[in-house]
Amino acid sequence: MTATVPVLTIDGPSGSGKGTISRAVAQRLGWHYLDSGALYRAVGVAAGWADLDLDDAGALVRCTFDTTIGFDESGDELRVLVNGHDATDELRTETAGAAASAIAAIPEVRAALKDRQRAFRVEPGLVADGRDMGTVIFPDAGWKVFLTASAEERADRRYKQLKNKGVSVTMDGLLREILARDARDANRSVAPLRPAEDAVRIDTTGLGIDAVVERVLALLPARG
Ligand code: DC
Repeated sequence: MTATVPVLTIDGPSGSGKGTISRAVAQRLGWHYLDSGALYRAVGVAAGWADLDLDDAGALVRCTFDTTIGFDESGDELRVLVNGHDATDELRTETAGAAASAIAAIPEVRAALKDRQRAFRVEPGLVADGRDMGTVIFPDAGWKVFLTASAEERADRRYKQLKNKGVSVTMDGLLREILARDARDANRSVAPLRPAEDAVRIDTTGLGIDAVVERVLALLPARG
């Protein structure tokens, strides 16, 4: 029974550190990791390859059903295969993120991805990272965390990440994009970004990765 497999959900807005924290926590626990945003990004990338119009909900829903998404955990870094092609780097681009955010507002797309996300719940446990992990996908999770950070700090983190990769961006542009994405994710009618009532909120502004990881791990009962 999958429902007996322990789940820790980590939700929050873009740039709150969810991905880094969730991966680190999953590694420490020896649990599986679900990057649910990667599924929405994968559909966004596939829609781009097919040259679909982001306003054509019907085409995007068909694209969601037709897109195969695979995760390859064998190397140092998690690789994401979209329709059999390694799309890991393309998935992280701002274009893919913006497409994912638009696609994620379509109820039929979210419904189509539900079971794919729940399928990650396998022994010994799962750390699920996203926007609606604790509210919609795993409402019965044993532990729920909601990470936040100021928009300025999130833009600054993203700026440093992109700078490191040699991508040229401006802080102003990034801050605008983050605020626009927050508003879209929080205001959509289906599964808007909001903390589950039973989630523990952690504000990561000014906190290092290790400090946040320890706070999250401290929520779980001592492991023998
Ligand atoms: O976490 P991320 O930046 O990779 O997510 C990309 C987009 O996908 C984000 O703008 C909102 C959407 N998303 C979602 O709606 N629900 C999730 N569980 C994960 C992501």
